[in-house]
Amino acid sequence: MSRRTFLGAGSAGVALVSSRGANPAAAATDADGEATENGAPVRFTLNGEQRSETLDPRVTLVDLLRERHGLTGTKKGCDHGACGSCTVHIQRPGDEAPTRQLSCLTFAATLDGAKVTTIEGLPAAVGAKGEVLHPLQEAFLRCDAYQCGYCTPGQIMSAAALLKEDPAGGGHAGSREMVREWMSGNLCRCGAYPNIVSAVRQTAGEEPEEDPSAAVVILSSGDAQTSGES
Ligand code: FES
Ligand code: FES
Repeated sequence: MSRRTFLGAGSAGVALVSSRGANPAAAATDADGEATENGAPVRFTLNGEQRSETLDPRVTLVDLLRERHGLTGTKKGCDHGACGSCTVHIQRPGDEAPTRQLSCLTFAATLDGAKVTTIEGLPAAVGAKGEVLHPLQEAFLRCDAYQCGYCTPGQIMSAAALLKEDPAGGGHAGSREMVREWMSGNLCRCGAYPNIVSAVRQTAGEEPEEDPSAAVVILSSGDAQTSGES
């Protein structure tokens, strides 16, 4: 089983576990969780497809994505805006471009006319088709920029937006410190930050495309060598 296959299976397991007991808020429900006809009609675009829904005003976007649409790539970490794992891109009517936003703090009923892109739609958003990944996804794989992978979709969605912000300034990727600063809203409990930064910088063309852990410095008898083996 390849690492990617293993991680995919693992993510599915996490999604199953985390959805158990979760708020089934995707449907229009009242305060007691009972179905109601009093939802607000909302039309929006989700990963390039038109959607028309009737939504309880209290339903958050992260719950809508995961519970109704099965888009479990968007993770619910803290559910109160502190971890960044639920990051998606939203472009509302009048916005010049999509911006990264926290879907746990976004009421889905406010999205009438908006375009929403999740990690599942990110490759297509840059023209990739089929099994082709977004360059950032490729870079995260190449750089081993994750361990458990729970924060990874949010990290990638945040990084994809970061690279388009301030294009004159290198998309906030001009230095490793800049990447850390502009992605400070995305937490990684596994501490994969060094490789995450490398993946972002490599995608921006600021660092050579290589696995940063491939070069291992071996110190012996006072001299040093660089080896591609670990
Ligand atoms: S789940 Fe949205 S910021 Fe943590
Ligand atoms: S890879 Fe585990 S939380 Fe980031």
